[in-house]
Amino acid sequence: MSKVAKLEIEGKIYELPIVEGSEGEKAVDISQLRQQSGYITLDDGYGNTGSCKSAITFIDGEKGILRYRGIPIEDLAEKASFVETAYLIIFGHLPNSAELNRFSDLLTQNEMLHEDLKFHFEGFPPNAHPMAILSAMINASSCFHQRILGPYDDEVFELQAARLISKVRTIAAFAFRKSRGLPIIYPKPVYKYTANFLHMMFSQPFQDYELKPEIVRALDLIFLLHADHEQNCSTATVRMIASSKANLFASAAGAVCAIWGPLHGGANMEVVQMLEEIHRGGDDGSRFIAAAKDKKSGHKLMGFGHRVYRNYDPRAKIIKAQCDQLLAVLKRTDPLLDIAKKLEEAALHDSYFIERKLYPNVDFYSGIIMRAIGIPLEMFTVMFAIGRMPGWIANYKEIMEGQGSRIYRPRQIYVGPTRQSYQPLADRK
Ligand code: ACO
Repeated sequence: MSKVAKLEIEGKIYELPIVEGSEGEKAVDISQLRQQSGYITLDDGYGNTGSCKSAITFIDGEKGILRYRGIPIEDLAEKASFVETAYLIIFGHLPNSAELNRFSDLLTQNEMLHEDLKFHFEGFPPNAHPMAILSAMINASSCFHQRILGPYDDEVFELQAARLISKVRTIAAFAFRKSRGLPIIYPKPVYKYTANFLHMMFSQPFQDYELKPEIVRALDLIFLLHADHEQNCSTATVRMIASSKANLFASAAGAVCAIWGPLHGGANMEVVQMLEEIHRGGDDGSRFIAAAKDKKSGHKLMGFGHRVYRNYDPRAKIIKAQCDQLLAVLKRTDPLLDIAKKLEEAALHDSYFIERKLYPNVDFYSGIIMRAIGIPLEMFTVMFAIGRMPGWIANYKEIMEGQGSRIYRPRQIYVGPTRQSYQPLADRK
């Protein structure tokens, strides 16, 4: 017999079905509640609300578990490439060699931007934020691929997905070059995904960037670790936009705006700014910890805490180890890494953070790797967006394939003025 929850409102009992996920997560299905009782639920910030059923990513925040399509993030981080992982996330299974070759070829064939898009880059001021450019250019590039603007078509979806994943990296690199007044470097078809991105970022017309395998691998890993994270702010944005049957590029452009915020993808920049400030001030970080604990200060310990994880973010563990490894290979030290480790140590022994179960999240150490690679601060959130593209695309696909067939339309509890009359301008004080 299927399980039900009973809800009593004003003496009347409503039976609500219990829904169970494949990993034992349980939910009370309230989809008929308003129709039956006139009541809705109120859940500020959606902390207790499942907006959809999804088969892409599983997170157990209490235990610190993250799996893409059932495969633990630790396995993928050790064995897979970003492109292989992107395929897994979007299409639901690890690609065989024919599938991987085909998808990689599609990425290569779609790496160029239409030449006319270069004029769009010209229109941005030199100090424009690359996230603004990225979002605008994703939308603009859709105008050059009219089939994308039509209704969802299963057959062209693979091409659209590859096109978006491939072009976003070219747009990002061009945006960086433009912001520095540097000549644009075109992609090279011989390079694989991440190597090609580094080439477009750092080569000069007279000299190719030296691709160190350790650096290529470290950035590939950063992309892979960011590839999906279930219903976070930007992914929920994709689903929201897609539910209106908007096209893939429009949905992704909206998600780029959502991930830009400092409480989401923008946190990786803020972490490094915080570490730099501690370094400049010669402080041991205790001032920052004290400010983060003081609600009136308006400060938080950036790179700490997570809506879902009440344990160490598994991605942060992998990135922390990668930081040590990369700096050792490059024979470099970074005082910010030492500060970050001390800050983590102090926070993890502080009752404020212990009681609230606040641990380092993915952003706490990722900026240190990006600094070591030579990615400038203003591009950090762009790296996150490039990495997250497969997750956004997979969620878009789920919506289009009917698992969220209704348009997303939350309700609200209105708390504004009750009915009042219109006052003519002359009568207003
Ligand atoms: N520093 C200090 N206090 C914090 C922090 C922090 N980084 N994070 C949460 N808290 C406090 C909250 O103020 C709250 O305190 P209270 O119970 O006394 O009111 C308590 O811990 C619980 O907060 P949550 O409900 O867990 O926080 P929420 O889910 O609303 O927010 C968020 C999660 C936005 C990630 C938050 O932890 C934060 O702002 N962290 C810093 C920014 C950051 O690193 N963002 C990246 C997130 S990961 C990602 O997007 C990839």
